Amino acid sequence: VGVSAPAPALPRSVIWHDLECGRYGADLGLWTRLATAAGRGKPARVLDVGAGAGRVALALARAGHSVTALERDPELLGALAQRAEGLPGVEPVLGDARGFALKGPPFDLCVVPMQTVQLFGGSRERGRFLRSAQAHMRPDAVLALAIVTQLDEFDRAAGDATPSPDMVVIDGVRYASRPVRVEVAQRTIEIERERTVPALGVREHDAITLARVDAAGLGREAARAGLRPQRPLAVPATEEHVGSEVVIVRA
Ligand SMILES: C[S@@+](CC[C@H](N)C(=O)[O-])C[C@H]1O[C@@H](n2cnc3c(N)ncnc32)[C@H](O)[C@@H]1O
Repeated sequence: VGVSAPAPALPRSVIWHDLECGRYGADLGLWTRLATAAGRGKPARVLDVGAGAGRVALALARAGHSVTALERDPELLGALAQRAEGLPGVEPVLGDARGFALKGPPFDLCVVPMQTVQLFGGSRERGRFLRSAQAHMRPDAVLALAIVTQLDEFDRAAGDATPSPDMVVIDGVRYASRPVRVEVAQRTIEIERERTVPALGVREHDAITLARVDAAGLGREAARAGLRPQRPLAVPATEEHVGSEVVIVRA
């Protein structure tokens, strides 16, 4: 008689990532349409940059495409690999997008969802990424990068209203994450969240810094890396999420 093993506990970093990023779905139709077009009637070979725990990579693989998922965080990549078990065509790769060398044929499509390109640093680091991506793309392949350019500022410490928290209950334990501060500076946007797990006595703050870049500026950086800017696309805002511009460039 087979006894199924209990599901392994998720690392805390994966729980927060799933809660804060994993539920977003407004962009999936766009990535799927781009993959279908890039495959020209066949499954596309896609590079998903900053793939996290696999939100986009797994959706594209389920649609029949073959996806290389590049991610620098080993815990997130481990979750992605586990979630891809039994699903053909997903290759998890641990590495830094700001300089990578992958084996295999060139890609038909390279996607950088959810403002990930704004996490790389400044223009020098984006340049390193753009040159690496260009070197891995077949002629005329598309590189698509979602960016956010406008965010409303608020600060809970100053008495401003905040969005309601994202919440999940895992094994009876409630995890909640809520943005408490958005600060837009000349070159950066800082987003701070409060993460709480009351049952475990956890209350911590996490902050990320996005580089400010617009579609025209990113297009110029891509052109310097040998890519050809196209007309940008967009992911509309939802009730819970801001919209993104999607910069499109071709090899
Ligand atoms: C906003 S999340 C997006 C995750 C996933 N693509 C999605 O859309 O759900 C950004 C991801 O990029 C990864 N990342 C950030 N900088 C990176 C870098 N330099 N190289 C590779 N991955 C990076 C982070 O670890 C994180 O998983």
